[in-house]
Amino acid sequence: MNARQTLKTSLLFSLCCLPLAALVWGVAANQLGANPTEALIRELGQWALRFLLITLTATPARRWLGWGFLLSYRRMLGLFGFFYGLLHLIGFIWFEHFFNWQELLEDILKRPFITLGMLALLLLVPLAVTSTRGAVRRLGFKTWQRLHRLLYLAVSAALVHFFLLVKADLLEPLIYLAVWVLLLVLRLPDRFFVLRWRSVSE
Ligand code: HEM
Repeated sequence: MNARQTLKTSLLFSLCCLPLAALVWGVAANQLGANPTEALIRELGQWALRFLLITLTATPARRWLGWGFLLSYRRMLGLFGFFYGLLHLIGFIWFEHFFNWQELLEDILKRPFITLGMLALLLLVPLAVTSTRGAVRRLGFKTWQRLHRLLYLAVSAALVHFFLLVKADLLEPLIYLAVWVLLLVLRLPDRFFVLRWRSVSE
């Protein structure tokens, strides 16, 4: 990696740490509202989802806008998604269950929205573990690529987790869902767009 690339990577890394820094500051300055622990857990969950979605914009951004630069940072962005998801879980274990593992397990098994959150995070574990270049080499690119499709499942589980949690105002999860659907459409094979284009112009 040359000096320019190192600088860009460090800048992006710092940018990805900013939400965490802002949250730590919010806690320290008592600025997270009436229920700071709930706000903290929720914000960490939102950032986990945002990073996962940003990771998935890399391919469509290159395909449709010619922006290839995000591809080189996909791994870092995905790992940040996992990192924020992990902090979200730690916050939950700490502030809602006070490290009572028995109670935590019951919660995971009894409340479907918690089960789905757990599923989303567990699906990310093999992806985080195999995010190194060595892992790509060991698994072979095809197998590695197939394994990393679990990301789609993880994002879907996280979205259902969000929908099950929200009872009244569905606007926020609907915005995430719209972004997710758009990203999926932009990933459809070329042939789909050629067919659409033909049927529109004929
Ligand atoms: C990658 C995995 C995960 C993602 C992306 C994720 C995402 C989210 C999102 C977006 C919210 C809603 C935030 C809001 O309302 O503003 C949320 C809430 C929540 N999540 Fe997750 N989540 C994940 C994993 C987990 C896990 C593993 C658990 C616990 C086992 C969990 C427990 C919760 C709880 C308890 C809330 C509600 C917080 C509250 O209202 O106090 N999540 N999550």
